[in-house]
Parts: sequence; structure tokens; C-alpha cells
Amino acid sequence: SLPMLQENVSLKAHNSFQLDARARWFADVASIAHVRGVLDDPRVAGLPLLVLGGGSNLLLTRDFSGVVLRMVSSGIAQVREEGAHVWVRAAAGENWHGLVLHCLVRGWFGLENLSLIPGTVGAAPIQNIGAYGVELESVFESLEALDLHTREVVTLDRAACKFGYRDSLFKRAGRDRYVILSVTLRLMREAVVNTSYRDLALELAAMGISQPTPQQVSDAVVSIRRRKLPDPAVIGNAGSFFKNPIVSRAALDKLLQVYSQVPQYPQANGSSKLAAAWLIDQCGWKGRSKGGAGVHDQQALVLVNRGTATGAEILALAREIQADVMRKFGVELEPEPVIL
Ligand code: EPU
Repeated sequence: SLPMLQENVSLKAHNSFQLDARARWFADVASIAHVRGVLDDPRVAGLPLLVLGGGSNLLLTRDFSGVVLRMVSSGIAQVREEGAHVWVRAAAGENWHGLVLHCLVRGWFGLENLSLIPGTVGAAPIQNIGAYGVELESVFESLEALDLHTREVVTLDRAACKFGYRDSLFKRAGRDRYVILSVTLRLMREAVVNTSYRDLALELAAMGISQPTPQQVSDAVVSIRRRKLPDPAVIGNAGSFFKNPIVSRAALDKLLQVYSQVPQYPQANGSSKLAAAWLIDQCGWKGRSKGGAGVHDQQALVLVNRGTATGAEILALAREIQADVMRKFGVELEPEPVIL
């Protein structure tokens, strides 16, 4: 049966900032037939579309006058195995951390470092989720999506998705073009762990573990995240609000002359990634608030809704932070979430 289109729906429960914006139209969709059914409904013909997973990478600064599709499809299945690898397909509506745990207990490894990232499977490729030294692209095989231009289902492989740091086709040329239906990952059947990220290595050492299992890596990531990042169920947020900026060698050298401590991670092409959290922290923003909008007290990169904020207030705070970082360091911060 086709999903019900609901009119004038609050999105408060559907975005992790817990902002009370409204959608003109809203439907839960669990299958491609549902998606097509909504798109064919004459009441919403021609209106802009917003596809939502967990709403965990979204800043709503106003009501949305189009139609919101919330992906609620489910299903996780092994689709192939060969040699050391196993291929796993998950429906777009599955909870990301649920998928991580599902794979871990079956001995399908590679997702441990991405434990506890909020949001859904279908949202994961959009920003190429990454944490503790691993990005989605490293385990990504392909995805299935409904191409809204042709109304056909397409399969896009890793190259087609044009992944970058917190970036993909779906944030650029493919923005608003695809409804992601499922994602297929290529995982390992042997336990290989990646503990290169400094904070992760320190956490494992503090736990007294020198040869960690994938489960222990996952546990360590979960405990770091619980300590540093606010739980969106308790305090509204969208994780890191800015990307870590990438600057040229020349720009870095100039910064180092004044700030010799600036944390930086050299990139393959000679440029450097800076820690936006550090830049913001140095400007004195950590823990501060402006009305209901604030900067988290354990992680300066995370903006929070202390309860009463509007999206516009959070955006205004973000603009002030950007201006301060530009003034002090000459570095431009780019917001990470989709701003609507
Ligand atoms: N730092 C500060 N002040 C702070 C927080 C951090 O000076 O308030 C310094 C730390 O001392 C460290 C550096 O900044 O030297 C980096 O901090 P951290 O390891 O916490 O990582 P991050 O660069 O701030 C990124 C991701 C996170 C991801 C972590 C771990 C981005 C935009 N953010 O944060 O992703 O969990 O690394 O891999 O790349 C997200 O995207 O929503 C997210 C949480």
C-alpha cells in the first residue's frame, strides 16, 4: 500500500538538532514503490524534495515548502563472499550503528572505527562519513539509487560517487538528483584493525589493550564518542559543524610562524588539514552560548541546541565563529551539514 502523505508536519523529531521547522508535506517511505507513489501524487507535483534519513547532518533554518521523504526501509543481507571478503547490502533506512553491530557479531570487519555515528545507512555516502582514521569510501562497493531525472534505478560504484573528505557526488553535481535506496559494502572476514588515529591508540592503551580485537576497537571508539560528543537524543546537535580546513603548504608555513602549535595533518598532495576544533577553541568559543545556540564544552567543533534555539540562531552563531577564525588565522571554515 502507498504511504500517507501528511500535511504540515513538525520535523522536530526528525532532525538531530531538534529544530521545530515544519514540512508542507511529509511521508515515510519504505520501498521504491513508495517513493514513486509519492512522486506521482498530484498534490506534490513539481515541489522540491528533501530526503531524510536520521536528519543528523541537517540544519533547518526555516520551514520547508516541499515534500520530505523519510527513508524507513530495512534489511541487511550478505550478498556475496569470496576469499577474505564479504559483501553486505543494507537498506537506506537502516540505522548506521545498528549495521556496524550487525556486522561485528557476524565477523564481518571494517566498520569498527565508524561505530556510533548517528544517522542512517542511506545518508552515510552523502558526506562519506569518517572517524578515527577510516572513511566510508574504504569499504564502499556500490549503492542503488532512484535517479529523479530518469526515474530509473541506477547502481553507482565507488568511482561514480566521487568521494572526498566529507564530500561526494551527492553534495555536488548529484545534489537533489538521487534517492539512495541501499548501500553495498565490502568487508573483511579476517580481523584487521586500524588503530592509527592518535586518540584511538591512546584510548586502547588506557584500557590496557595492546592487541585489540575489532570488538575492542569498536568499544574504544564508542567510549571516546560518548565522552566528547553530545548525545543528540539529549542535546540537539549535528556532530562536527565545520569541516577541517585544508590549506596549502605556503598558508601553513605562514600560520606556523605565528602559531607554532597549530595541529596539522599532512595530506598526500602536500597540503595540510588543520583541526577546526583547535582554531575555534583558540578563539575562545568552547562552551559559550548565544541564546539557545551554543558551542559544546567538550568539543569546540560541535554546535548545540541548548533547548530553545532556532536554526537561524545556530547559523548566526556559526557565522560569528567563521568570522573570528578568519580574523585570527586567515582560515575559512566551511560548514559540514546541509543547511536549508
Ligand atoms: N581540539 C581542540 N579543542 C577541542 C577539540 C579538539 O583543540 O575542543 C584539538 C584536539 O586536541 C586535536 C584536534 O583538535 O588535536 C582534533 O580533534 P579530534 O580528534 O576530536 O577530531 P576533529 O578533527 O575535531 C574529526 C571529525 C569527527 C570525528 C573525529 C575523529 C571532522 C569535521 N570531524 O573531528 O567527525 O569523529 O575527527 O576521527 O572531520 C563529524 O563529522 O560529525 C564528526 C564528529
